[in-house]
Amino acid sequence: MASPWLHLLLLVSFLSMNLLVKCDTDEEDTLLQGLNSYRESLNLTSLTKNKNAECLADELADQFKNQPCTNSTGANTVPGTEKQLSNYPDLLAKCHLNVSNTRDGIVMPACVPNLEHSLVLSNFTKSQYSDSLNDTKYKGAGIGSEDNWIVVILTTSTPAGSYVPYNAASLISNIGLIYCLLFWLISALLIF
Ligand SMILES: *[C@@H]1O[C@H](CO)[C@@H](O)[C@H](O)[C@H]1NC(C)=O
Ligand SMILES: *[C@@H]1O[C@H](CO)[C@@H](O)[C@H](O)[C@H]1NC(C)=O
Ligand SMILES: *[C@@H]1O[C@H](CO)[C@@H](O)[C@H](O)[C@H]1NC(C)=O
Ligand SMILES: *[C@@H]1O[C@H](CO)[C@@H](O)[C@H](O)[C@H]1NC(C)=O
Ligand SMILES: *[C@@H]1O[C@H](CO)[C@@H](O)[C@H](O)[C@H]1NC(C)=O
Repeated sequence: MASPWLHLLLLVSFLSMNLLVKCDTDEEDTLLQGLNSYRESLNLTSLTKNKNAECLADELADQFKNQPCTNSTGANTVPGTEKQLSNYPDLLAKCHLNVSNTRDGIVMPACVPNLEHSLVLSNFTKSQYSDSLNDTKYKGAGIGSEDNWIVVILTTSTPAGSYVPYNAASLISNIGLIYCLLFWLISALLIF
């Protein structure tokens, strides 16, 4: 029989292990809250989470992640000089999207070392992106991050920017959650 102390030790390590596995990156939630406070200060409606936009933002962040932050990347990019991704249509397809339902949305990548909270927020609210963030036509947002890159996609309520596919909603964005739940379950089974 294990002593109560051993149980306690195992419980503590179980809990700390779960803290290490990021189930939902807080950078993304923190940023959404920050962006919504910014919009609130301008008397604009809050942005609601858009799952497909989030999926695309994750895919894009994954494409950007190996690029270093410079004074000409992310929020510092001179408008019109953005690097075009040749596999963009594939990324859209992965998220069950196509140009017809994403055209009116806007993709805003930012590169901030270690995604430092306050710098991440100001890279959106105090850069060229602020003009889009204070636009009433945007109603939703999807945020994805990978290493130093964080991508915000704003969506509209019109069909051309809804990021909502014509058919069923995508399951892709739930896969992370499923892994996370599985991890919890397996660690719980191993320990108790
Ligand atoms: C927001 O609305 C409040 C109350 O209606 C008003 O006092 C304030 O000036 C508005 N702020 C902006 C930025 O429009
Ligand atoms: C970016 O950095 C390069 C090299 O450090 C410098 O020459 C250039 O002027 C900078 N550009 C801006 C817009 O700050
Ligand atoms: C986007 O998808 C819809 C529905 O699947 C389709 O009707 C439309 O032709 C597609 N548009 C493009 C540009 O592929
Ligand atoms: C954006 O983040 C960079 C770090 O990559 C920082 O140097 C810069 O000051 C930030 N820009 C704004 C407007 O906050
Ligand atoms: C958004 O910000 C820009 C620049 O700060 C300003 O000119 C514009 O009036 C703002 N629009 C709204 C709807 O607040």
